[in-house]
Amino acid sequence: MTLELIFEMISRAFLLMLPAYVSSPGAVISHGKIPVDRKKKFFDGKRIFGDGKTIGGLFIGTILGFLAGVAIHFALRGTPFSGIYGGFLNIGLISFGGLFGDLMNSFIKRRVNIERGGKLPVLDQLNVVFGSWILCFIFSRNWFLESFTPPIAIIVLIITPILHRVANIIAYKIKLKDVPW
Ligand code: CTP
Ligand code: MG
Repeated sequence: MTLELIFEMISRAFLLMLPAYVSSPGAVISHGKIPVDRKKKFFDGKRIFGDGKTIGGLFIGTILGFLAGVAIHFALRGTPFSGIYGGFLNIGLISFGGLFGDLMNSFIKRRVNIERGGKLPVLDQLNVVFGSWILCFIFSRNWFLESFTPPIAIIVLIITPILHRVANIIAYKIKLKDVPW
């Protein structure tokens, strides 16, 4: 395998996940107010998702991730999200899927007694990936299986935690987040 091929695969993996890489920080800058769970509690008496997951965050984040995906979609003439007119669904699934994963992550965190802002290693870094993949597998399976081949999937699993770490340190430094994770 040549170095060139490796770089090509890394950029392909990055482009495929780009809508989710934009929708997540998009939710953070949204300053959403209304919690997705509307302050409701789950059967265990704890919040379903908590105050950190807002409707505004889902909305603004999904739109920003979608726009970022559409921009590269046209710039690259339809690749890697499939045909130039067919790619919108896939872009939307990756964008919203990232936030869906983040929501599921918070659901799990509340169930195991991790308060808002607390850490859950591995899932905190990869929820965005799993959320996108789950939605793509359900709603766009052929494209998902063609696009996220095992090597591409492995690259995504490696680069996402790195990008997550870098983004969170930046968000902390510019005081967008209170903690550097
Ligand atoms: N955010 C939002 N809506 C979302 C996701 C994030 O409004 N769907 C905003 C919230 O202000 C949140 C911040 O982005 O506090 C940081 O996101 P994140 O780290 O995912 O949330 P936490 O506050 O850490 O909460 P949790 O423990 O539930 O992950
Ligand atoms: Mg957090």
